Amino acid sequence: MNVVMNAGVKGVSNESADRVWRSYQRCLEDYHFLQEFYLRFIETSPEVAQKFANTDMDHQVLMLRASLDLMLGGDRSTSEPVALRQVAKLHSRHGVDVPPRLYDCWLESLLLTVARFDPGFDDELEQAWRAELQKGVAYMKAAY
Ligand code: HEM
Repeated sequence: MNVVMNAGVKGVSNESADRVWRSYQRCLEDYHFLQEFYLRFIETSPEVAQKFANTDMDHQVLMLRASLDLMLGGDRSTSEPVALRQVAKLHSRHGVDVPPRLYDCWLESLLLTVARFDPGFDDELEQAWRAELQKGVAYMKAAY
């Protein structure tokens, strides 16, 4: 799956991808990074909060970590591989029913959290993060 994901998700230069990977690693140095992302994301709307009403958030944080490792790190990822196709299927209208517009909230919440946790964050890095995640998010939206 890693190979498939890399073919589809990697699109920008390696230098830019490396900067984002290092930024992500700086964020992960603080254990609260992913938890704070979810708090922020859930606060964006009652619709999002409702989706996670019965969710085990510790498990959820681990799964998000694995997805981000894959989307941002490709072969550098040391997490148990996640199949994005399965994740997309789970999120579709046939699963937990996540409409495409909620991915925009997801992305903005993530970038706001990165901005808070990465001391090296700046406008250029923000654009690099957007570019790195763009294909994965587009893939999830398209699978709705
Ligand atoms: C690219 C963006 C996203 C990624 C990579 C992602 C990733 C994941 C992963 C890996 C899981 C866990 C699957 C499992 O347990 O096997 C999950 C579950 C879930 N995600 Fe996402 N997700 C994304 C966006 C969203 C958005 C925008 C929403 C909107 C509310 C959402 C709502 C959910 C829900 C409701 C679950 C199930 C939680 C449960 O088991 O109770 N996700 N997601």
